[in-house]
Amino acid sequence: MSERETWTSRLGFILAAVGSAVGLGNIWQFPFQTATNGGAAFLVVYLLAVLAIGFPAMLAEFVVGRRAERNPIDAFGRLGHGNWKFAGAIAAFTAFWILSFYSVVGGWVIRYIFGSATGAYFGAPSEYFGAIAAGPDALALHAVFMALTVGIVAAGVDDGIERATKLMVPSIIVLLVGLGAWAATLPGSGPGYAYYLAPDLGALTTNFWSILPNAVGQAFFTLSLGMGAMITYASYLGEDDSLAGDGVTIVALNTLVGLLAGLVAFPVLFAIGIEPSQSGLGAAFEMLAGAFGQLPSPTGAILGVVFFFTLLLAALSSAISLLEVVTSYVVDNYDYGRPTVAVALGTGIFLLGVPSAFGVSNLGWYNAIAYNLLLPLSVLLLLLFVGWVYADGAIGELRQGSTLGEGFNRGWLWWIRVVVPVGVLVTLLLGLQSLALRAGVLANPVV
Ligand code: PHE
Repeated sequence: MSERETWTSRLGFILAAVGSAVGLGNIWQFPFQTATNGGAAFLVVYLLAVLAIGFPAMLAEFVVGRRAERNPIDAFGRLGHGNWKFAGAIAAFTAFWILSFYSVVGGWVIRYIFGSATGAYFGAPSEYFGAIAAGPDALALHAVFMALTVGIVAAGVDDGIERATKLMVPSIIVLLVGLGAWAATLPGSGPGYAYYLAPDLGALTTNFWSILPNAVGQAFFTLSLGMGAMITYASYLGEDDSLAGDGVTIVALNTLVGLLAGLVAFPVLFAIGIEPSQSGLGAAFEMLAGAFGQLPSPTGAILGVVFFFTLLLAALSSAISLLEVVTSYVVDNYDYGRPTVAVALGTGIFLLGVPSAFGVSNLGWYNAIAYNLLLPLSVLLLLLFVGWVYADGAIGELRQGSTLGEGFNRGWLWWIRVVVPVGVLVTLLLGLQSLALRAGVLANPVV
């Protein structure tokens, strides 16, 4: 077994974690989850879910990762509870599963960079999406996206992941701010801000139960929780960092990027007269492409290339954290070199993603299984472990490097023991219901 790597700096960790968090979840999923769940009402529930459920759960992952200095599967054994290994295995499986279709969407993004440059989608954005989303081309670009991901992970923790994300994260923020400023200048964009930012309290109370599971699932997905990614990244972390402090920075930056993406998407949609609740996995692509296509050339082409290139960076810095989860398990346990491991696992993930590359509805199924089942289940198990099985060790680890008082630590522990698991359990049950509805096993919602 080779010597374990660490981040070269605290900033390296924060940026890598932000790079993991900021991805297709913020820029592709978030605006459209918001749109399909009623606009600003969703935003309110989502922000609450991030604060009340996502942030404490992230600290739980950090605690396990840093104390164990192991990948998520071995972490439990290292902490003296080998019988909880299955929880880590579920998390690692979730990472494997999600990356398989995440990479297909990453392939679409690559396609749109070229589509913007050549103006291929300008006349007919919906038809273009329909034509490129599935089939041999989508498969080829899925392979390209996986190859890029494998390349970065193979290069290792500080040369690969840390260096790449130091470049990616600041560029994403700068580019989104620029696009947001541009969106504000579009005629007709005004109602987009109202739709996005002014919650209708009536809709909020009526639809709360249907909004809740999506908001919580979105919080997990976007904060990279439930896949062992944060356990893995924290395992490369020094003892003198404040976990809560880093957590706040990561959550705040990730939320900022999501909000910025909304500030690009909604004004643009209203400006070009698209009804935001028009949903579907291709909606983000069709709408943005529609917007760029309406601009005079070459402005549309340039902005399109810039936008989709940004999205590619964001997607890659997330994908590497997913591949790192499984890679770290094999690298920690066997004598194979990191590059060999990354290539072998990348190939497996590529194969798992083949159905998604051949049908958008298959991809929708993979996504729904992740959101509604795997993510909440995996987070729930981790919380039960940290809160009830490993509480003393967890508190001790949270104290390390922290300047917050004991009140915070104790408060956190009780919060993740009781409040968060109940919230996640409700989410899981509602999620299972929605899977059953989707499969046609249930005809009507129970709540
Ligand atoms: N958080 C990433 C996003 O929002 C997705 C992701 C999930 C990345 C899990 C890593 C781990 O796109």
